[in-house]
Amino acid sequence: MTDQPERIHLVEVAPRDGLQADPADLSTAQKVELIERLAAAGHTRIEAASFVSPRAVPKMADAAEVLAEVPRSSHVSYSALALNARGVERAVEAGVDEVCGVVVATETFSQANQRATVAESLQRWRDISDAARAAGAKTAVIVASAFGCPYEGRVDPAQVLDIVDELAQTQPDEIALADTIGVGVPNRVGDLFAGAAERAPGIALRGHFHNTRNTALANTAAAIDAGVRVFDTSVGGVGGCPFAPRATGNVATEDVVYLAHEMGYDTGLDLDALIETSQWLEGQLGHGVPSLVAKAGGFPQPRRPS
Ligand code: COA
Ligand code: ZN
Repeated sequence: MTDQPERIHLVEVAPRDGLQADPADLSTAQKVELIERLAAAGHTRIEAASFVSPRAVPKMADAAEVLAEVPRSSHVSYSALALNARGVERAVEAGVDEVCGVVVATETFSQANQRATVAESLQRWRDISDAARAAGAKTAVIVASAFGCPYEGRVDPAQVLDIVDELAQTQPDEIALADTIGVGVPNRVGDLFAGAAERAPGIALRGHFHNTRNTALANTAAAIDAGVRVFDTSVGGVGGCPFAPRATGNVATEDVVYLAHEMGYDTGLDLDALIETSQWLEGQLGHGVPSLVAKAGGFPQPRRPS
């Protein structure tokens, strides 16, 4: 028996969740360079853009151009968000490998984000899933606001698990539970993922944490302990939802990579290259990024005191 470390898979979401609400307006060329750097750092799954209304999310208006220009290789799978029929049509036309949908756990935020009831967005997801599959793309779906809602406050886990039930019937490749507004804490995260695993047997679960209240890394560790092996992370920790008031960034890729490697897992990612990319991204955005590992560096190598 070999003693290979177990793999934790990271989906890099900076090009989509990271950039969709950032004050900076990156050009298509800058977005493509970001994606190239992320792939060079070892990322094999990159959420490249979202095919939503450009009026609702102007920063993603060039999604098709971004997908047309990114380097294609069998090592990198590109996903994109689609929230309606038009979105999945555009995503498939752009040649995405994976289509990711979103169902919000609460009615008020569902209206604010998607202009649809939860039931309507479940039906939209079923249609998106069928269209994506017919085109040979993988499918993943995010339950947003799974730990708390900016408008309704606390969310009953039973309500989230009922949505997981509905989603499991569409047999997606993955179901993500998202702490869109960063209110979750480790024990609740562990419990909800354990509940979801029972309701969606055989379907991979993915964690999506925002660091709004400084709990994202602790929540990631709790989800790892609960058996989750796939996480959405954003280089530098940039990001946030434009429709969630005071939203802040996703958990930083380099912070999660440091955590995972030191816990004994393999990610296939090069921490130094990610740190370099994070620093490069700061320069492109024209403002600092929240990641701590980008500032501190990885585990210190032995050296003489200066
Ligand atoms: N791609 C491009 N344009 C789209 C689109 C898509 N997928 N879906 C809708 N539109 C455009 C329509 O053409 C229409 O444009 P117009 O105002 O210039 O005529 C406008 O958006 C409204 O279209 P409608 O079909 O009435 O959609 P809607 O108002 O019910 O909006 C959403 C539904 C979900 C498509 C829209 O609210 C949206 O894209 N929201 C963004 C949500 C988001 O990205 N959140 C963050 C990530 S979770
Ligand atoms: Zn998010």
